[in-house]
Amino acid sequence: MTLPRRTFAIISHPDAGKTTLTEKLLYVGGAIHLAGEVKARGANRRARSDWMKIEQQRGISVTSSVMTFEKDGVFFNLLDTPGHEDFSEDTYRTLTAVDSAVMVIDAARGIEAQTRKLFEVCRLRSVPIITFVNKVDREGRSPFELLDEIADVLALDVSPMNWPIGMGGEFEGIMDLSSGRISRPEGDSRTFQGKQDEVPLSDRFAEEVELAQAGYAEFDGAAYRAGDLTPVYFGSALKDFGPAELIAALAAHAPPPRPQPAEPAPVSPDNGEVTGFVFKVQANMDPQHRDRIAFMRLCSGTFKRGMKLTPTGHGKPIAVHSPILFFAQDREIADEAFPGDIIGIPNHGTLRVGDTLSERADVRFTGLPNFAPEILRRVALKDPTKTKQLRKALDDMAEEGVTQVFYPEIGSNWIIGVVGQLQLDVLLSRLDAEYKVAAALEPAPFDTARWVAGDAAALKELAEQNRSAMAKDRDDNPVFLAKSAWEVGYIAERYPKVRFLATRER
Ligand code: G4P
Repeated sequence: MTLPRRTFAIISHPDAGKTTLTEKLLYVGGAIHLAGEVKARGANRRARSDWMKIEQQRGISVTSSVMTFEKDGVFFNLLDTPGHEDFSEDTYRTLTAVDSAVMVIDAARGIEAQTRKLFEVCRLRSVPIITFVNKVDREGRSPFELLDEIADVLALDVSPMNWPIGMGGEFEGIMDLSSGRISRPEGDSRTFQGKQDEVPLSDRFAEEVELAQAGYAEFDGAAYRAGDLTPVYFGSALKDFGPAELIAALAAHAPPPRPQPAEPAPVSPDNGEVTGFVFKVQANMDPQHRDRIAFMRLCSGTFKRGMKLTPTGHGKPIAVHSPILFFAQDREIADEAFPGDIIGIPNHGTLRVGDTLSERADVRFTGLPNFAPEILRRVALKDPTKTKQLRKALDDMAEEGVTQVFYPEIGSNWIIGVVGQLQLDVLLSRLDAEYKVAAALEPAPFDTARWVAGDAAALKELAEQNRSAMAKDRDDNPVFLAKSAWEVGYIAERYPKVRFLATRER
């Protein structure tokens, strides 16, 4: 019998404790044996690839990875999302491949900018969220204030599942609100080592707990899975308060693989045919080979090694002889995989982000978004004989979701668009290292871009009257390049039959 699957991601603002929590989840899940392994692995992996120098220099992770572990009869797939503020579309797209998310918040800082952006993406896809308020071993804001902020800012019902008995220097443990048991810190390190009791609380904390239980929604599994309510756990990843509870909560409440939006009809995980979609493509994991790994989320069927899968809409069937399952320690060849699992498929550039793969090629998954770029730059080539290489490089990187590329209707200067500054550095360093193209990025006369759709006559009129602002994306979709967000609004008012879209589904 196959084990139930929980495929999830952790979302957070940098420094909230995602790496620490990831490591503790893997430790509790038995996937690693020593604290510190996640970081060590990161350093190793970075050493493998040249362009990942940027990661090293900045000490951040540009790429996402997948980690799996099994605990108490449940199989977990944890998809890592880069935590830096300069995130790319990669981060967003990873969230299209999960069934739920854990949102980590710093108890002293509350909801921060990136948590909020990532949360919005989860909301778009009704991805249910478990909240973890981290670092209660330090001075933080009052738990009531934090709960109210989560409820207000994210417009969600909140349901505290446990309660911190003091924070910082006063921290005396965490009470599970359903059992009344208190997990206690021990030793000089003040970590959780298994000590639990039901010693009555002092008046002050007894009153707090009473207020907490009376003042917030009771946990409701259906409301959580619908994305209307978030259970909130307080804890300290560093001191081992919380990781075990989070794993238990994911096992008990998080949704198993869900039907995925597709055409002609959503695909249910118990549909017998093997189907999946590529949510990420990563090049150069190994500088010796110019291979790419396409990360496919399996949506239905039982995948078996050697199986032939066909990308919908283009290409011949691909025999998947060496699929890769990602473990925390190592890559392993997979013999079998089940809905919810992620498979790495080595290929030479045939597979693209957004591709559907299936046995019969009569289905197409929808809903992997492109996001309107927030930074646009003109690419200036230093050696004009390298135009072809440049175009190939820009197309390749657009395919991987590193950058977007726009080809203006007028003029020969290609425009690239990114969601975060860091992607620009990645682009330049890869142009140089992999494609041997020396290029510079110059300011573009545009600030933002919108995909345009709608009435054909209105689109034609827009294009004719604004030729210098029109471009095509890599897939030949029409794009309006605007000097400012204000201009988008102004033009949108003048062409009411045209829709100006900040995201485009692939
Ligand atoms: P991130 O991946 O979300 O960016 O955060 P990360 O886990 O790297 O944690 C950021 C900092 O917060 C780290 O400290 C980490 O040790 C600390 N931290 C994480 N969880 C807790 C917690 O529960 N309690 C306390 N007190 N601190 C926590 P650092 O000094 O920046 O890094 P390091 O040198 O300790 O690795």
